[in-house]
Amino acid sequence: MTMPAHSTDGACAKETVLARAFAPGKAILLGEHAVVYGRPALAGALGDGVTVEVVAGRGALRVPAWNVVAPLDENDDDDRSDLVTACAAVRDVLTRRLPDVGMALRRLDAAARFGVPTGAGLGSSAALAVALARALARAVDARLGDEVLDEAALAAETVFHGRASGIDHAVAARGGFGLYTRATGLRPLPTKDGAARVTEGVRLVVGHTGRQRDTRGRVARVAELRAAHPEKIERSFDSIAALVERGAAAITTGDLAALGAAMEENQRQLEALEVSCAEIERMCGLAHEAGALGAKLTGGGGGGCVLALAPGREEAVRVAWGTAGFTSFVTLVGAAMDEAAA
Ligand code: MEV
Repeated sequence: MTMPAHSTDGACAKETVLARAFAPGKAILLGEHAVVYGRPALAGALGDGVTVEVVAGRGALRVPAWNVVAPLDENDDDDRSDLVTACAAVRDVLTRRLPDVGMALRRLDAAARFGVPTGAGLGSSAALAVALARALARAVDARLGDEVLDEAALAAETVFHGRASGIDHAVAARGGFGLYTRATGLRPLPTKDGAARVTEGVRLVVGHTGRQRDTRGRVARVAELRAAHPEKIERSFDSIAALVERGAAAITTGDLAALGAAMEENQRQLEALEVSCAEIERMCGLAHEAGALGAKLTGGGGGGCVLALAPGREEAVRVAWGTAGFTSFVTLVGAAMDEAAA
């Protein structure tokens, strides 16, 4: 893998863009880890995500902001980062399922721009996989059905997660907000009168621990705990599933206090599953003191980001985190259903 200097943060400045695709990042409000074992999770798309542009080139994946240029069209077993391995997994599925893409790879470059923090539990790797697959298929006018997209994105996610539930790429591919299970995929939450529609989204403060999330390591640790104490861990997954149902009902009825309480309880379960860390606990404590209704890690844990539900107190949470050295932003999770199909 080579890393020549690159001067621009824009995806493909001054080059003719043959195709472009966007996929959003995600936030899991409730249910991570248990979702790997078939339980439901509540998740929504972020307003920003990953954009991939395809231009004429030599079969490279470029990430200008990181000065990374990696081969997309050949196997390079030395020095493989997860990013390169994941993109190679997408390429392999596309080459097998859409031969036109495979034949065109040597004359195309794909450039990625990240609009969400990477390695933070916000779904940037799944968004990259979805945007990359869509952009490459578009560049050669190949039809990318849902099945091939899911297969390509799941192959990439498995690189980052070990055992992946598919939730990250389901949100990256479909956008919006809803309940996800491995069996049913992502389903929008019903409204009060029972009609299925997407909610307006949930306003959250997202803060970064400053430490990379450790999804693969934490997923592996939960698997070890489950192997050692199957009944206890299955009971924990069931409790998390009940919290997810409670949280979903709370969103449907607009009961933010109940949603916050479910987030709190979920964080205690996640801590017991050994997927939290000192920074996450500190940030949750600070969010409380600043008036949040609930705070918890999001995604794989072991680092990455914390979500705080703090209606009317968002700025107070941001100040408390900022004073302690944690960066943050406020976002509406789940409001991007239509944009996400871009
Ligand atoms: C990662 O965003 C969420 C996990 O539940 C893993 C997965 O579902 O693939 C930790």
